[in-house]
Amino acid sequence: MDSLLILGGTRFIGRATVEEFHSAGYDVTIFTRGNRPNPFRGNDAITHLTGDRTDRSAIEEASRQVNPNVVVDCIAYHPEDVRVATDVFEDVSAYVYISSSGVYPDDINPKREDDTRIRECTPEQATDDSQETYANRKAEGDREVFRAANRGVNALSVRPCLVYGPHDYTQRLNYWINRIETYDRVVVPGDGQHLFHRVFVRDLARALRVVAERGTPGEAYNAADRELYDLDTLLTAIARELNRDVEFVHATERDLAAGNLTVDDFVCYRDYNHVLSTEKLAKLGWDMTSIDEAIAETVETHLENDIGGGKQSFPREKESRVIDHIDRTDPR
Ligand SMILES: NC(=O)c1ccc[n+]([C@@H]2O[C@H](COP(=O)([O-])OP(=O)(O)OC[C@H]3O[C@@H](n4cnc5c(N)ncnc54)[C@H](OP(=O)(O)O)[C@@H]3O)[C@@H](O)[C@H]2O)c1
Repeated sequence: MDSLLILGGTRFIGRATVEEFHSAGYDVTIFTRGNRPNPFRGNDAITHLTGDRTDRSAIEEASRQVNPNVVVDCIAYHPEDVRVATDVFEDVSAYVYISSSGVYPDDINPKREDDTRIRECTPEQATDDSQETYANRKAEGDREVFRAANRGVNALSVRPCLVYGPHDYTQRLNYWINRIETYDRVVVPGDGQHLFHRVFVRDLARALRVVAERGTPGEAYNAADRELYDLDTLLTAIARELNRDVEFVHATERDLAAGNLTVDDFVCYRDYNHVLSTEKLAKLGWDMTSIDEAIAETVETHLENDIGGGKQSFPREKESRVIDHIDRTDPR
């Protein structure tokens, strides 16, 4: 039986990845520090090893114990993490690094793996811990993958866009699900046609397996929905799933200012579009779950877990001020 060692594995993407590889018949071992609860506790099929991935001897020990065919790295946040892992796991049939679509410059669309340049990373950025350098560090991690492949390691990279689905601790769709569930009129920044590529967590987990099994070492693969919903279409799909008839009130930056809000206060919205080419992964035989099906599961787990608006929410009162302002100044 093939074996998977997953660095991480207990929260969101790692959790779905464990389920994906396990269902595909792999022997699965997860490797975490043991700070977070292990959702697979009590499941004899999923082995848990404890250690810190920044300690080389700990992942060497995990490598010896598991002797994995495949390694999926969910927790490489610094290029050094990837460099060490590609050294320790130099003999596996696939080491798959979870990179990010943030490696591409914001203003280029669509973002193509082999044509679009990726961000630079200075030595200072490479060891920094702040969110500002996250994308630079992820890009340098990709370059570590390419360097490792050049010396014969079966290292590959997957670049997910915004990931959503059950157990998303970043709680990105929770804001919108909660607003649509609770109010008849919901403020949407811009004209509703904003494009920001997303991927359902189970589809990403499948992408990681497909890339491990069929990908070419030294290559990077975008992971993004094959079908792209603009913001209004996404929100309409959520409303449909909740059986709600909601008016989406489109607001300009000036309208938002009436509630002391900016576009940056809205989760899933940026002041640029973010679209990825999805051909390369599809050519490996990967396909997506329909967005409506993915939204249905996301909404269902949101309701079961009673998350409310999530940590990215802001008071409704600010939104009400924007709606009042629009009603007064622009009776559409
Ligand atoms: N969410 C998105 O939209 C998105 C988009 C693009 C890329 N990504 C990438 O996806 C990955 C995140 O996936 P995830 O957090 O959902 O993965 P996960 O594998 O489900 O969760 C991460 C697990 O790793 C463990 N961990 C953290 N630091 C560790 C360390 N130093 N040593 C050992 N274990 C450690 C944590 O448990 P303990 O605390 O118990 O150790 C945690 O349970 C990241 O690489 C991120 O850059 C995410």
